[in-house]
Amino acid sequence: MLRWRVSKPTVLSLLLIQAVTVVLLYGWYSRPPSQNSLSEGKVHVLLLSSWRSGSSFLGQVFNQHPDVFYLMEPAWHVWMSVKQTGARSLRMAVRDMIRSVFQCDMSVMDAYIPQPCNVSKLFMWSHSRALCSPPACFLTARDEISNEQECKKNCDTQGLKLAEAACQSYSHVVLKEVRFFELESLFPLLRDPTLDLRIIHLVRDPRAVLRSREKSFKALVQDSAIVLEQANLPENEQPYQVLQEICRSHMRIYETAMIKPPDFLRGRYKMIRYEDLVRNTLAEIEAMYEFVGLDMTETLQEWIYRITHGRGKGKKSDAFKITSRNAEDVSLAWRTTLSFEKVQHIQDVCKDAMTLLGYKTVESEEEQKLLDVDLVKPNEQNQFSWLPSKSTTAKV
Ligand SMILES: *[C@@H]1O[C@H](CO)[C@@H](O)[C@H](O)[C@H]1NC(C)=O
Repeated sequence: MLRWRVSKPTVLSLLLIQAVTVVLLYGWYSRPPSQNSLSEGKVHVLLLSSWRSGSSFLGQVFNQHPDVFYLMEPAWHVWMSVKQTGARSLRMAVRDMIRSVFQCDMSVMDAYIPQPCNVSKLFMWSHSRALCSPPACFLTARDEISNEQECKKNCDTQGLKLAEAACQSYSHVVLKEVRFFELESLFPLLRDPTLDLRIIHLVRDPRAVLRSREKSFKALVQDSAIVLEQANLPENEQPYQVLQEICRSHMRIYETAMIKPPDFLRGRYKMIRYEDLVRNTLAEIEAMYEFVGLDMTETLQEWIYRITHGRGKGKKSDAFKITSRNAEDVSLAWRTTLSFEKVQHIQDVCKDAMTLLGYKTVESEEEQKLLDVDLVKPNEQNQFSWLPSKSTTAKV
């Protein structure tokens, strides 16, 4: 038998060289060039949006992916447990909530949900495919599309340990939030070496948002009060003030990420317009998947086609339901149903944001109702052709 005699120092240096090689290769192949090797290859995605902007749909696009653990609005728990306050004073609690959930630590819920806490106490829990799949529940295989109703009936458990185990078993943790109005509070998360955070910022034409908000007015009352810092405004003025805040926040976020972004933000932010998403669904989704390192599957492709081309059967009562109506028709509905007066009002309060994000204003009712006139500028254009606007220094 052949025997190798190797000295201890040689073995040690070989091991060292190997370790260095592994680390270097890992660094070269992970994208974007990552300072975050402590995230162990896990990717954390924040879907940042606003109410009635298509974020439930976008969330589902990630939720149904077999590599994704998804939760909708964990910060809802923060906002709903601290009433009579404003978004500004809640934002750090919201940020810390997000960080814990990204790290699969659900104990943060203790502060907001009475004990003992069941999985069913998590906001919209049964919409999360991962909570309906092993190891959380043995109802839906991980690569199948989940059924929310069945999940609700079969997948409740006591405690959040299984939810944590589920979270740990996926390569991607994706959270959807409508409760951020700036990016700065997220900077510590972007710098956190245990997180590999990507931000997808979904925006929508504020005129379409207004129409959609009017239809679900009641469901939004409490949130609106928090957005407005509990300011006492005439009722008919409120919807516009809320939208003004939202428009400003979109500008702030976009500008922070696109004009001289800090190093740790570079390559980690992607803006998407809802209108582009519904017009060019598959291509836009593939681009987002690529941005966060997910592959498209055949099951997902078929499902995406089905939900964007299905028949209308939306129940008005459920403001958060994703209905399978023709998505593009829905995105144009404001043009025929919203009065020109309201359109003008919204254009007034959101003018700068609309310019920045590539939405054209209409100057007459005729122009509004003429559906041939496209009011969404091509995507490439709004990447480069805008000037920093004065009003962006408005309050943070
Ligand atoms: C919690 O989940 C268990 C297991 O499904 C169930 O038996 C129990 O009734 C639930 N409790 C609450 C408070 O929902």
